[in-house]
Amino acid sequence: MSANTSLFSPLVVRGVTFPNRIGVSPMCMYSAGPDAVATDFHLVHLASRAVGGAGLVFTEAVAVTSEGRITDGDLGLWNDEQAQALARIAGEIRAAGAVPGIQLAHAGRKGGRTVPWAGYEPIAPERWGRLLAPSPLPFRDGWDEPTPLSDADLHAVVAAFVSAARRAVDAGFAVIELHFAHGYLVHQFLSPLANLRSDGYGGSLEGRARLALGISAAVRAEIGDDVVLGVRLSVVDWIEGGVTLDESVTVARWLGELGVDVIDCSSGAVVSGEKVPAAPLYQVGFADRIRRDADVRTAAVGLITEPGEAESVIRDGKADLVLIGRAMLRDPYWARAASVELGAAAEPPIPIPYRRAVERMAARTQW
Ligand SMILES: Cc1cc2nc3c(=O)[nH]c(=O)nc-3n(C[C@H](O)[C@H](O)[C@H](O)COP(=O)(O)O)c2cc1C
Repeated sequence: MSANTSLFSPLVVRGVTFPNRIGVSPMCMYSAGPDAVATDFHLVHLASRAVGGAGLVFTEAVAVTSEGRITDGDLGLWNDEQAQALARIAGEIRAAGAVPGIQLAHAGRKGGRTVPWAGYEPIAPERWGRLLAPSPLPFRDGWDEPTPLSDADLHAVVAAFVSAARRAVDAGFAVIELHFAHGYLVHQFLSPLANLRSDGYGGSLEGRARLALGISAAVRAEIGDDVVLGVRLSVVDWIEGGVTLDESVTVARWLGELGVDVIDCSSGAVVSGEKVPAAPLYQVGFADRIRRDADVRTAAVGLITEPGEAESVIRDGKADLVLIGRAMLRDPYWARAASVELGAAAEPPIPIPYRRAVERMAARTQW
């Protein structure tokens, strides 16, 4: 029996039509070489998930500068060679019927490490560059003290986001998400736990949000009206003295007024030692609250693993998109399987060469 599901209903934002509400959440693969250029692995990985039926496929966090990478295996987007490799990926995602999205990031004080399976060890500053942060506070004990950004550094960071966004649009990405969450540079500014500045970029919520708003406005002006702009926020810090949900509602409203279309609601990771009550759907309430009170579209993410759960998030109006992370690593066809399980009337498109697997198998022919 086929059903009109909410999860498989299209969504139109600006010039972009999402065929369904399921997105592949940005996930670092730590698999680029020192040139930060996407490889065949990234192409296969991301295109497979588009073929698997997701309506939106996000790249991992792509660094806007070399020193803004989390690890020496991250993708980057500060030169044309990197842009060309990403353009090929955007093209394949689009050819499979999904919307290509890219997440742009700067790691700030959490950068300069080796990939996790090489121990996540610090890389010497002579080989890496500076670790930048709002204030000279290391992420955790034993980590290097970062350098506070000067006014010139702040302008350079905004310019780097703008330039990467330009390259991303030219490479064919239809959604740009700015990574302002998970304890990376812009979250470090937003959170009083990492930002002790006394200039215009610290103190009050307006001050702490100044960099986030400045980057968002500049990127929106650069990419024009047709491209969808998202922001991932860590909506709460899960620790006393950190970012609160009420503050994030205000920041989300400011971002919406600047032309940000979607707030992707994640949480935590600005300091070590936080206690995250992770459980199925544990961040959906954030997306719901921000959608209602900040008057902006939201994406829900975090331990959403069952098609029925994802369907209810959209049906109950708690978010406009559902992003799936690890369940999509386990099964690139998660979205297609969800459409079957929910009996969706509108199934994701099947690549033409695969059609015999559906039509002729159903007819029980030999092949
Ligand atoms: C391997 C891995 C890499 C990740 N890399 C990123 C990233 O690049 N950017 C980001 O915003 N979140 C990243 N995340 C977080 C995911 O996007 C997602 O928010 C999180 O895994 C929760 O969703 P899930 O429970 O569906 O996995 C990563 C998660 C995993 C498991």
